[in-house]
Amino acid sequence: MSHLEVENLSIVFGGVHAIEDLSFDIQAATIHSIIGPNGAGKTTLFNLITGLYRPTAGRIRFEEEDVTGQPPHRLAAKGMSRTFQNLQIFFRMTALENVMVGRHLREPKNPIAHVLRLPSQRRSEAACRARARELLDFVGLGAYAAESAGSMPYGALKRLEIARALAAEPKMLLLDEPAAGCNPAETREIDDLIQKIAERGVTVVLVEHDMHLVMNISNHILVLDYGRKLAEGTAAQVRSNPEVVAAYLGAQGQQEFDRAQG
Ligand SMILES: Nc1ncnc2c1ncn2[C@@H]1O[C@H](COP(=O)(O)OP(=O)(O)OP(=O)(O)O)[C@@H](O)[C@H]1O
Ligand SMILES: [Mg+2]
Repeated sequence: MSHLEVENLSIVFGGVHAIEDLSFDIQAATIHSIIGPNGAGKTTLFNLITGLYRPTAGRIRFEEEDVTGQPPHRLAAKGMSRTFQNLQIFFRMTALENVMVGRHLREPKNPIAHVLRLPSQRRSEAACRARARELLDFVGLGAYAAESAGSMPYGALKRLEIARALAAEPKMLLLDEPAAGCNPAETREIDDLIQKIAERGVTVVLVEHDMHLVMNISNHILVLDYGRKLAEGTAAQVRSNPEVVAAYLGAQGQQEFDRAQG
């Protein structure tokens, strides 16, 4: 089943076609990567899919429903969750509290119960805390639960963001450069984590510059260049496409792809 369908999508910023007439599908419960050089439009595409930007033209369907132009909170409630290219962590909160923030997007809110601290409210707070703990364990950060996020290493913060996005119990998780700035060991942890998430049946949409990671774990890869589709297919298909190698990474391209293969 197509989990997401993008049809003839375009957005123009002051004459710049950041995304231009782009169409593609994402299959449910797969890892779908979006790659391309700096400025190709990857983050813009995430912003369009998650409702932060309204397209100039085109349609987006999520689980067969036309969701074009719907705001981020509606899409989050339907099961879309994301992380951002730049860390969006509350550094003065603990790791556990950071994850609970993601959970609150999902929990039903009853302001009166909250003010009166009714038993129902306390139960839901306890359930939220318990689930946040489970998620910290799931991403391998259980030991940091009570630590302030400001004291955590960078690679751990990247996983903390993923835990927070998972706290909303998404059906589709969009990750914008989850391994950026990570060392090889941290990148491997992110790689394993993404595969574990997909194994749970969550559709993962991945924007990432680390070719080794992308080529290893993606079921499908879409290559963007200047906001347009340059190619798509499996890792093997994309890697052997001379246009992709030339346009995407220039002279360094073949080397990078060869390294990713090894
Ligand atoms: N809000 C905006 N206003 C004006 N131009 C924008 C806006 N957002 C993105 N752009 C432009 O759209 C193009 C695509 O940018 P985008 O950030 O999507 O690229 P990217 O593929 O994510 O790049 P990177 O790999 O560097 O993160 C760029 O030319 C950028 O300057
Ligand atoms: Mg980007």
